[in-house]
Amino acid sequence: MEIKTDFLVIGSGIAGFCFAIKAARHGTVAIVTKKEQIESSTNYAQGGIAAVTGEKDSFESHINDTLTTGAGLSNEEVVRFVVTEGPDRIRELIEWGVEFSRTEINRSSVFDLGREGGHSHRRVLHAKDITGREIERALIETAASEKNVTIYENHFAINLILESKITGVDQDNDRCVGAYVFDVDNNIVHTFTASFIMLATGGAGKVYLITTNPDIATGDGVAMAYRAGARIANLEFIQFHPTCLYHPEAKSFLISEAVRGEGGVLKLKNGREFMDNYHAMKSLAPRDVVAQAIDMELKKSGDEYVLLDITHKGKDFLTKRFPTIYEQCLEFGIDMSRDMIPVVPAAHYICGGVAVNALGETSIDRLLACGEVACTGLHGANRLASNSLLEAVVFAHRSFNRVAELLPHIKDKPLTIPPWDPKGATESDESVVVSHNWDEVRSSMWNYVGIVRTDKRLERARRRIEMITQEIMEYYWNFKITRDLLELRNIATVAKLIIECAQQRKESRGLHYNLDYPRRNDAEWLRNTIIQKKLT
Ligand code: FAD
Ligand code: SIN
Repeated sequence: MEIKTDFLVIGSGIAGFCFAIKAARHGTVAIVTKKEQIESSTNYAQGGIAAVTGEKDSFESHINDTLTTGAGLSNEEVVRFVVTEGPDRIRELIEWGVEFSRTEINRSSVFDLGREGGHSHRRVLHAKDITGREIERALIETAASEKNVTIYENHFAINLILESKITGVDQDNDRCVGAYVFDVDNNIVHTFTASFIMLATGGAGKVYLITTNPDIATGDGVAMAYRAGARIANLEFIQFHPTCLYHPEAKSFLISEAVRGEGGVLKLKNGREFMDNYHAMKSLAPRDVVAQAIDMELKKSGDEYVLLDITHKGKDFLTKRFPTIYEQCLEFGIDMSRDMIPVVPAAHYICGGVAVNALGETSIDRLLACGEVACTGLHGANRLASNSLLEAVVFAHRSFNRVAELLPHIKDKPLTIPPWDPKGATESDESVVVSHNWDEVRSSMWNYVGIVRTDKRLERARRRIEMITQEIMEYYWNFKITRDLLELRNIATVAKLIIECAQQRKESRGLHYNLDYPRRNDAEWLRNTIIQKKLT
């Protein structure tokens, strides 16, 4: 079936919804999302959204903190507009129904601002410790009230469709015209066509064995954009969150950085503090520093985890400020008001992605990207905590302004788009191959392309991923597609691209730490790593 719409939005997290709700004022919007609409990293965000709203805070301070954390690679112009446009976008979220936690100061009600690593002020708006769930709830409700928005759940975008594949225009004059989308429930592939396509597919934490990310985070957007020939940037900068709960039965549960913001201290198993050896901000240092410090201490001691101690804050405070984290820990037998919490670093956020300009446009005409899938220049070599939700709302607005300006001038000739070609694929009887390859990609990335890298480890990973990719491609073309197979193909592609970027960067900076080049080299490497596939 062919579905025509003005705007095709791929993904239903903060980026997709914020763009879709606005775009609906100008035309029809189809949101395709590969599971239920709520399933997104947005829904699991804990700490909050950074923005300057406090009296003692200033734009300059937030800008400086972002630039310092970005280790020289953030684009200052982007940092400035994201920070200064932030408060307007926060007001909009509130108009859409988001309720941020408040507190009383001198009998007036103000935002209860949290603090996180790398921030020199309290500036993180939050809804207790379930900020993402509150934002996602409000966005789902707002989108549902827009008559121009149609949501297609369990619809998995497979590939972008380019005009060149239909009319043969060259890569320089190409444009994106839609996407092939797998309708998982009905086992068929639809063709969605649109004047503008917004990629809002989120992150890629599932490329790694240990991650804070939900299952949807398989880097589909980066992989699709790469296959379509878009410019991809800075994928070597993978952020490892220092404090993921360590428990054999806990699947990727994050212990928010806000816990350290409220005084939580990292300790070794023997009870000794160690962060004062690494940074003046100790346990609240930027994430790259904390994750690398934990990695180093674990290697030295042979322990499997470190401890996070916030017992001094007491049960009353903890159950009020962190009710979900408190309850979750308790389910695993840890009472955080009495026990220290065992934690380990885990892959959390991908700072690079599909390269976009200040309006969210990719290098392919009519293809936009927003949210974690995009590389905007804000984060540089390391993201400041709680700047991701902020980036998504600011860029969704800018992209909306751009398409609102362009749409009235668009007069596309109708194209006859060929339906998806399954190429004689048959039903697979060996799905064990898929799960085996999934595990192998994720373990190789964890073991060889983790917090600390070397040339030898990167090369080892490259060879493994190349072999697995060959096997996947054989499988992909022979057998009928399934969600698992599509995701496997995408995590392998993103793994390959991360390694390629990491091998290019011959220095250590921010989140990319290579023992063979342990120092930052501004003379040669004050630039982005860019990868672009030449289409044949
Ligand atoms: P997502 O919210 O991940 O949404 C992506 C959407 O795309 C999903 O609906 C997904 O199903 C869909 N999708 C993906 N691939 C396809 C496909 N092929 N076809 C169709 N649909 C597809 N950041 C902060 O700023 N503050 C925080 O406090 C914070 N806490 C976090 C806590 C956790 C546990 C995690 C995992 C992340 C946290 N982050 C935080 C990061 C932040 O939540 C994410 O970067 C942000 O929510 C990404 O939003 P997004 O809209 O780009 O993607
Ligand atoms: C957290 O709550 O620690 C996550 C914040 C973020 O990733 O920005």
